[in-house]
Amino acid sequence: MTTVGSGGSAAMSPRQRMIRAVLALVITLAGVLLLGVLAPANAVAWIKVLHVLAVISWMAGMLYLPRLFVYHSQATPGSETSETFKVMERKLLEYIINPAMIVTWVAGLWLAWQVFGFRGGWLHGKIALVILLSGAHGFFAGAVRRFEEDRNTRSHGFWRMMNEVPTVLMVLIVILVIVKPF
Ligand code: HEM
Repeated sequence: MTTVGSGGSAAMSPRQRMIRAVLALVITLAGVLLLGVLAPANAVAWIKVLHVLAVISWMAGMLYLPRLFVYHSQATPGSETSETFKVMERKLLEYIINPAMIVTWVAGLWLAWQVFGFRGGWLHGKIALVILLSGAHGFFAGAVRRFEEDRNTRSHGFWRMMNEVPTVLMVLIVILVIVKPF
């Protein structure tokens, strides 16, 4: 029987998830390479468009997921509300956050290499902050799994605090890339 908690992508095995992540990476890499080959004149502008769209999607998910954890941590394990949050969190992670992070990284690294040759203090600072952001992403992905298994032990206050981490990193990253202060 398909329940709310076990339906859809929540029922995918770790192997299926891995295959989907690898597929997303391969498709993105192929797209970026193709654009580089087919439209060399304005490839940079198009990759930047792709990068900014992916950043928007990644950040939308990273700002919303810990907010879901705030409410989920107050729901009774096994209740219908809790099971609904599980589906919302798993789908947000797998359909939006994971693919958007991959596209952001691939397009961002391509720009860093093509336009700046990986030089510039602001770029190194930005990459360091994006590594921290990716660490937060990994932590949230682990939390989705723990919530799924009803093993969350963190309070809603903790998740409220974690909600601010992607916000602060995002502000600093955007200042670095736009102002380029060093
Ligand atoms: C994954 C690692 C990332 C790398 C290597 C990277 C690198 C770059 C590079 C080289 C540019 C072009 C900058 C220019 O032409 O002046 C760029 C543009 C941009 N990046 Fe990233 N980026 C990354 C992730 C992010 C993230 C996480 C954010 C936001 C939270 C972000 C926000 C932006 C924005 C808003 C622009 C457009 C700036 C402009 O055109 O003036 N990037 N990125």
